[in-house]
Amino acid sequence: MTNALAENKKAIDFAAIRQDFPILHQEVHGQPLVYLDNAASTQKPNLVIDSIKHYYEHDHSNVHRGAHALSDRATAKFEHARENVQRFINAAKREEIIWTRGTTESINLVANSFGRASLTSGDEILVSAMEHHSNIVPWQMVCEQTGATLKVIPVNECGEIEFDQYVAMLNEKVKLISIGHVSNALGSINPVKQMIAEARKFDIKIMVDGAQAAPHFDIDVQNLDCDFYAFSGHKVFGPTGIGILYGKEQLLESMTPYQGGGEMIEVVSFDGTTYNELPYKFEAGTPNIAGAIGLSAAIDYLAQFDRNALQAYEDQLLAFATEQAKSVEELKLVGTAKEKTGVMSFLLQGAHPNDVGMLLDQQGVAVRTGHHCAMPIMKQFGIPGTIRASFAFYNNEDDVVRLFNALNKAKSFLL
Ligand code: ALA
Repeated sequence: MTNALAENKKAIDFAAIRQDFPILHQEVHGQPLVYLDNAASTQKPNLVIDSIKHYYEHDHSNVHRGAHALSDRATAKFEHARENVQRFINAAKREEIIWTRGTTESINLVANSFGRASLTSGDEILVSAMEHHSNIVPWQMVCEQTGATLKVIPVNECGEIEFDQYVAMLNEKVKLISIGHVSNALGSINPVKQMIAEARKFDIKIMVDGAQAAPHFDIDVQNLDCDFYAFSGHKVFGPTGIGILYGKEQLLESMTPYQGGGEMIEVVSFDGTTYNELPYKFEAGTPNIAGAIGLSAAIDYLAQFDRNALQAYEDQLLAFATEQAKSVEELKLVGTAKEKTGVMSFLLQGAHPNDVGMLLDQQGVAVRTGHHCAMPIMKQFGIPGTIRASFAFYNNEDDVVRLFNALNKAKSFLL
């Protein structure tokens, strides 16, 4: 990077960034929109929206199949997108990037193609108590099918992994650990690098659910040394319905696909079928071509900025919101891990989270309420759910001020 570019990246104009996201500039219920539901899905910059429109207006055809110019163009863009994802997470090879519908499908792929084939009765899978249902249920299904046992890594009252207890759970019976990089419900950043280092002392494979991490900071799968990593396009400012599974090449080579169809085969006959090479053997059927191109544009959009600076800005916003929270007596934070990003989950004691969410919405403030698809951690905390404000780099201090003004008004109705 040139010095000039480094300087440019340092001087990020956050007001200008907001202009890149057309959806933010609207009124909801007669109030300017304050969008604080970024952990559920982020909004899309013009670069992403335009890339999809351009693709459908100029280049659309099916990939890897046609003997014509449009198919060649669509294929080139689709495969360029794969290489862009490879760079985004610093994977060693393009063959290690599998397109999926999103993080959920990526985890299901590993559960079916790796878990079902390699696990047996007596084996153990570990997940943490704060996982999203997508990182619990596929493993429960695999356990039912194989006789393996799902064990839960404890989480303390702040929402942090109990590291010593985690280490004590590791032994030869544990074959797989699947851990969220960042908790969607609490915002805790889990120490996945240290967890992987501990797992390496045994022959344990590790999958990382990066759905809530990739939107906030750089991912380096080689540095982490994880076996599998997954994230979703729509949470990194790209389209819905597209995501990736990263897997170490040797491991992916050893796995059998769980979905059959076009593209994933080499030769099909009624005497037997052979599978295509990586990454295609896991990509049955016509893929989400426009989604991949849109995700690639989102990665290009992010590449303009110093992501450390974006994260520092988001951390400042979260710190500002957390400070404001002290001024509301009835507000109780849920999830106070030392290492957090992007999420302020809380309760307004005496009011149901859904009622608070509805009153915030009436004032133009979009948050998510409920269990956030993480029922086990809500049960551990003895609560039905929380109100969750989640941040992206296009949010600003005004958004936080509007959130608290709306919250105080909701309080005056409810308490
Ligand atoms: N997993 C997404 C969320 O946390 C949908 O809201």
